[in-house]
Amino acid sequence: MIDQRALPAREVICVCRDYRAVADAIRRMVIRGAPAVGVAAAMGVALGLRGFSGEKARARFAKVAATLRATRPTGVNLAWAIERMGRVLELNLNLDAERLFRRMRDEALAVQREDLAANRALGRYGAALLSDPATVLTHCNAGALATAGYGTALGVIRAAREAGKRVRVIADETRPFLQGSRLTAWELRKDRIPVTVIADSGAASALSRGGISCVIVGTDRTAANGDVANKIGTYPLAVLARRHHVPFYVAAPLSSIDLASKSGAEIPIEERAGSELTEFGGRRIAPQGVAAFNPAFDITPAELVTAIITERGVAFPPFKRSLARLKRGA
Ligand code: MRU
Repeated sequence: MIDQRALPAREVICVCRDYRAVADAIRRMVIRGAPAVGVAAAMGVALGLRGFSGEKARARFAKVAATLRATRPTGVNLAWAIERMGRVLELNLNLDAERLFRRMRDEALAVQREDLAANRALGRYGAALLSDPATVLTHCNAGALATAGYGTALGVIRAAREAGKRVRVIADETRPFLQGSRLTAWELRKDRIPVTVIADSGAASALSRGGISCVIVGTDRTAANGDVANKIGTYPLAVLARRHHVPFYVAAPLSSIDLASKSGAEIPIEERAGSELTEFGGRRIAPQGVAAFNPAFDITPAELVTAIITERGVAFPPFKRSLARLKRGA
């Protein structure tokens, strides 16, 4: 995996040879973005089961799954991918260790392949919603880096570009980890898609000036009622979009939609170290001893969401019905 902490200054590849290294990479945000974390976790499970078979593999899975699951609680793709790997294991307990490893590795690669296909499909649905020309405001990084490739919110932008639409992007810098100014800007520059970085607090001014066609963000977990957990700062952006009559779209592969969470109140919100706020580039910027509160995600209430773009089509309110229908495959 590419070490996202080093971007955009350096492109460093991090090689994980066992599941603990994968768990560590997820925890320390070497890899991040809910779908990318799901793919990494699937590969972590495969690595963790190497050399095991039968009942020993089952016991080993419990340990590997618990370690991976504990890394980041909000993004549902992590648990989703681990459960999928667990189901495949149960069906293949009769295989010898080498064949079981190959089967689990193939399943992890399928998770990766399917995420990429989902991104391309939802990208096409989302592109149809964009005007030409369009200016899209986005938050955090929901691009190729955050997924198996192509991206969700940035996938919509890429697909619109491929369909011949003229798209430019305004990227929130996304304090405190700077996924917007470091990662989204890096990806879009590589694809020669015009991008302008703004401070998160600049979104109100940008929207009030007019000229922004829509807001598109990704999601770490969307509940059955359409409440959206995404990077901290997404909720205020949705409030602003409503204030300025700008559509607020969420690009979500179905693996990020969790019908078991009835509403956002049931989604666990990860709190990260206060040092992400009180330090910058390893240097202290807040006074010693000051407290910091650093939730990594917030919940955007469904009533502020215009539509949720999935690989099976676009869900409109009421989301309880439209999301359930898309999840069922109807
Ligand atoms: O803390 P991060 O960087 O993992 O948070 C990522 C986000 O909030 C993304 O918007 C979300 O995972 C969707 S990515 C397709």
